[in-house]
Amino acid sequence: MSLVLEERPAPYVVLLRLNRPEARNALSPELRGELRAKFLAMAEDPEVRAIVLTGDQKAFAAGADIRSMVSIGPGEMMRRNDDLNWSAIRHSPKPIIAAVNGYALGGGCELAMHADIIVAGEGATFGQPEVKLGIMPGAGGTQRLARAIGRYRAMLMLLTGSSMSAREAYEAGLVSLVTPDDDTVARAIAIATTIAAMPPLAVAEIKQVLHAGLDAPLDTALMLERRAAYLLFDSEDKREAMTAFLEKRKPVLSGR
Ligand code: CAA
Repeated sequence: MSLVLEERPAPYVVLLRLNRPEARNALSPELRGELRAKFLAMAEDPEVRAIVLTGDQKAFAAGADIRSMVSIGPGEMMRRNDDLNWSAIRHSPKPIIAAVNGYALGGGCELAMHADIIVAGEGATFGQPEVKLGIMPGAGGTQRLARAIGRYRAMLMLLTGSSMSAREAYEAGLVSLVTPDDDTVARAIAIATTIAAMPPLAVAEIKQVLHAGLDAPLDTALMLERRAAYLLFDSEDKREAMTAFLEKRKPVLSGR
């Protein structure tokens, strides 16, 4: 049975559901491989403009699969080269909205942080408990968490293995918005649907510039932004959207 279920809840929107409920959606090598294949395929698919990634009510994902790691050493970790799996998600040109209910721990929290927008149900829990297992995050948990919530709150979580509620995560800046648990996926789909109706070239440039710019010196980042902004003036959708505004009608977007 597939470990990642795929649905099309709206035009141009894909919903991916992690499907290992018996293991709290722990990220086994097989599940990671399926996610990678899906993200690589969606990157090239013009029928996909926004991706919602979710788990179930109990867990978004409880982290890397501890059973698959208990008896392996660094050589096997290197051979698994898990970064190939993460890289397919990290380099997704399409916006990713994580709809998080339940546990987002370890690699599960890291997976949520691979998203561009995080919608959290009130009962969601975020944490990087790797330290309790004698290891540490290896897919951005130290770096993305510190960038999202600041080094001091991140260090507290990482060194003690403590978790944050959805509300705390929202206040700290890790989460885009908090919803009742029953609304999380619907809210994420609604956001994805809104994004999917936007000019896709503008969406892609905004996503890329925001991420790349945050890790660059400000002057470089601002130049990156200007260049991308100027480039969009060559798109058909820019011409159509501005003309439609002035003619007081809805634009007919081509994606070009
Ligand atoms: N790996 C493998 N199996 C896991 C798992 C994980 N990360 N998390 C949960 N499971 C399994 C449990 O072993 C259990 O299986 P059995 O029924 O066969 O015993 C099943 O899922 C249900 O788990 P619980 O009974 O523990 O469920 P709970 O609701 O009481 O607790 C939980 C849920 C708080 C998430 C708890 O399961 C837990 O603490 N899980 C481990 C979380 C963790 O340490 N994550 C970090 C992993 S390391 C990592 O992610 C680092 C990296 O990227 C390299």
